[in-house]
Amino acid sequence: MPNTKTTYICKNCGASYLRWSGKCETCNEWNSLEKAVEASSSRLNYRGDVTNMQNLSEVSSFGSIRKMIGLNEFDRVLGGGLVAGSVILLGGEPGIGKSTLALQVCNLLGGSGQSSLYVSGEESAGQVKSRLDRIKNSESRINFISEVMVENIIATVEKLKPNLALIDSIQTVYSGEIDALPGSISQVKDCAIKLIEAGKRLNIPIILIGHVTKDGHVAGPKTLEHLVDTVLYLEGERYHNLRILRSIKNRFGATNEVGVFEMSAAGLMEVSDPAKIFLQERLAGATGSIITSTLEGNRSFMLEVQGLTTKTVFGYPRRTSSGFDVNRMQLLIAVLTKRANLSLGDRDVYLNIVGGFKISEPAADLAVSLAIASSLLNKAIDPNLIAWGEIGLAGELRNVSQLEKRMKEAGKMGFKQMLIPWQKDHIKITNVEIIKVKSIKEAIKIVLK
Ligand code: TYD
Ligand code: MG
Repeated sequence: MPNTKTTYICKNCGASYLRWSGKCETCNEWNSLEKAVEASSSRLNYRGDVTNMQNLSEVSSFGSIRKMIGLNEFDRVLGGGLVAGSVILLGGEPGIGKSTLALQVCNLLGGSGQSSLYVSGEESAGQVKSRLDRIKNSESRINFISEVMVENIIATVEKLKPNLALIDSIQTVYSGEIDALPGSISQVKDCAIKLIEAGKRLNIPIILIGHVTKDGHVAGPKTLEHLVDTVLYLEGERYHNLRILRSIKNRFGATNEVGVFEMSAAGLMEVSDPAKIFLQERLAGATGSIITSTLEGNRSFMLEVQGLTTKTVFGYPRRTSSGFDVNRMQLLIAVLTKRANLSLGDRDVYLNIVGGFKISEPAADLAVSLAIASSLLNKAIDPNLIAWGEIGLAGELRNVSQLEKRMKEAGKMGFKQMLIPWQKDHIKITNVEIIKVKSIKEAIKIVLK
């Protein structure tokens, strides 16, 4: 009797089926089912043994043994350093800097006398060494192996017992026990399970580097994200130097925490005060430009929103946006047309969030609308003004989360006027004129006199 069975797992959502089909019935993705081999569950009369028990009062808590790496932004995103025995999945697009970040972490650990094992299935020792030369390595306690067999990797980790093991990348690793190609779902998942088990058993932290698919998720089943303790994503625009490290899941710290880095000729540099980094090249007195701020974890970023409207030359007006959801922009244009009587029907509208940053929160609605209105009316907005507010379909302004915190941060940055949704509470910030408005129409009247 065979002791394995074949199933088909969806690459997108992880649902499993007995038969292949062109479309996943769970998530409706096409061509996402992949063959996977699972051990059979036919041993029905197997009776288990009693497992050793531990009284929890005698167990030291897992997250309590932490190691600060010395890269502050990275430590902060992890929730205060690396937890012994934890497994971190580091995802990001190709070329964004995952290997560089990982190597810098190994290098810093080396500097404090801790060893690491860098496993690469993609690059040779020479290639990794030349990257290490660029980031000016302080001390080399980094052991390198070029290996893809998970059993060999685990055996090496067991022998070396490094303070950190790093797998670059999980998609290249494969196990001889599984009859599937490297990078396939069953290989990625099973290898990750084996590595996680080894990490927990040996109490060694492991970083798994993962490639992302075109829609921005780590390639492989979603289950990979469930298996690990922490999921980090390194994001940024390829042609901008800024990189944002975001924690999506963290069993040992807060999620939504972000770290900010700048890619330089010598690796990723920390940006410890990123609030104003996007405002550096602002043109004073330009129309269609306004500042807002967005909150990412505990950080607030000041962002310049730019709008441009031009007469549509023929046919259907164009609406293009970079860094802001284009459907949301269409909605705001409709509100501006109907509720603030702006004639945008025959205008092309372009929107840009400067610096390649992406805003996803509705708090930016007011700034986006005012940037468009400012360009249309050809009137500049006071450069010392900052605005927040969500806009409803009736043109009303709605409150945004943590407004007071945003206002205090902006006050520190030297903004003199703050435009906010109307509210009963009186928020006071020294030397700042606070303007409370009820609707987008009123806001335009006040700001674009
Ligand atoms: P890499 O870490 O190889 O990206 P990933 O592992 O995510 O694919 O780094 C990619 C880019 O970073 C590469 O185009 C070169 C650039 N880079 C620098 O600008 N400065 C540096 O010091 C290093 C090491 C890389
Ligand atoms: Mg790489």
